[in-house]
Amino acid sequence: MDRRRFILLGTAGSVAVLTGCGGGGGAASPPMGAAPPPASPPVSNPPPATPVSPLTAGQPLADLVRLPNTSASPNVFAATLVAQPAGKTMLPGTSTEFWTYNSLVPGPLVDVFEGDTVRIQLENRLAQETTVHWHGLPVPPDQDGSPMDPVAPGATRLYEFTLPIGSAGTYWYHPHPHQLTAEQVFRGMAGLFVVRSRTDPVPAAIEERLLVISDLRLAADGTIPANTPMDWQNGREGNYVLVNGQYRPMLTINPGQNQRWRILNATNARYLRLALAGHTLTLIGTDGGLLRSPIPGLDEILLAPAGRVDVIVTASVSSQPSAALQSLPYDRGGMGMMGSPSTTIPLLTLNYSSAATVAVALPGALNSIADLGVPTTSKRLVFSSGMGMGLSDGMMRFLIDGKSFDPARIDLTSRVNEIEQWTIENRSSMDHPFHLHGTQFQAVSRTRSGVTTTESYLAWRDTVNVAAFETVVLKVVQRQLGKRMYHCHILEHESQGMMGVLEVVA
Ligand code: C2O
Ligand code: CU
Ligand code: CU
Repeated sequence: MDRRRFILLGTAGSVAVLTGCGGGGGAASPPMGAAPPPASPPVSNPPPATPVSPLTAGQPLADLVRLPNTSASPNVFAATLVAQPAGKTMLPGTSTEFWTYNSLVPGPLVDVFEGDTVRIQLENRLAQETTVHWHGLPVPPDQDGSPMDPVAPGATRLYEFTLPIGSAGTYWYHPHPHQLTAEQVFRGMAGLFVVRSRTDPVPAAIEERLLVISDLRLAADGTIPANTPMDWQNGREGNYVLVNGQYRPMLTINPGQNQRWRILNATNARYLRLALAGHTLTLIGTDGGLLRSPIPGLDEILLAPAGRVDVIVTASVSSQPSAALQSLPYDRGGMGMMGSPSTTIPLLTLNYSSAATVAVALPGALNSIADLGVPTTSKRLVFSSGMGMGLSDGMMRFLIDGKSFDPARIDLTSRVNEIEQWTIENRSSMDHPFHLHGTQFQAVSRTRSGVTTTESYLAWRDTVNVAAFETVVLKVVQRQLGKRMYHCHILEHESQGMMGVLEVVA
């Protein structure tokens, strides 16, 4: 595959439709660390003469549009994110109003290095308050865009933080205003944030693909409808699952080639049980960075909302006609789910080119993750749901330790740098992805139906699924003073109060 040609096709296809102001010039630059273009001839179809809807399946996968760096100083990344409505054509003959960052869906890619200082100005041109939350990044509490720090309509604010060495990983950013997060995200606001290491052990010759998976629900008139009462209970799922804003796009791979895919689940509530038909996946990293060593031979990977994985995909040596990245059936509980949990959803098509490539060898050792050590204190959190006063009477309420979120209340206190054991018990019949701000933690074990399974590998995570009636044990350390949020990352649950405040003290 010719990389330049591929990008041009992507631009002529859906990016042209989706690009408004801001960052348009970045679309043609290959991601840092990408392989030089192979000499083989292009095999893709010619570009369409007129822009086609991003909902037309089978278009070449578009690269994410990069957020341009306006800083001239080395090790400083400066940019502006404008939160604003933007109209796009999704269903032919209709216009869909999204809420966006820089008129892009998904938001522009932030691509920086460990050690960089990041200065991003937010301009809020929405009709309601918003924030930018840097999901998973070790930023100070007052720069974390939590619900405590709203940015009013028409206001701007500068977020500034320095990314420490050791923080390389696959993160994302999204709004986090009190009670409004779910809507702002399902209307289009979320973007990928990659932090790279200057000593990344994964060879740069392994071509990289960045995949942002999001959900979109469109009414027949092209509008994005509000949540229904059922959405507020189960978490909203759309009628289109998109990859980089496109419906079932096509990703080209050469026979024998291996590629590095960083995948983000940016949906409000959809569980992705990822499988690539006819291929296995090699897991090399999770939310907060690389594993100690690759885990090859995986038939599937469960990616709960807000989770990220870094995987190596190796194409067969003999050319295959096509294969699909799919989300296999997954039952996450809930009542009267709209989509049947038994449905397999194709996410993208893998298209084999005719030019064979030799796979690049992956090192056996990737990262030196130290076990966080022996906890000296412990916490226990109970996730539950019950009938009560929700958005309307008789609706389910989603609670942590029997309480609904109150920004004025401190629910938990931790000492800075103290190793803690957190036990998260899910006493409800639905899965809840648990997320904690400000740090990366290590999962220790999971208990289901009285059977405890110890995690078989060390990994940095900021989000962990706690299945229905499951208990998950974590090791947690907070390195900075201040208030941090923890919550369910089904955003409808978060926005209705399945969230608490942790204060880190000296
Ligand atoms: Cu991704 Cu508190 O959030
Ligand atoms: Cu977060
Ligand atoms: Cu939940």
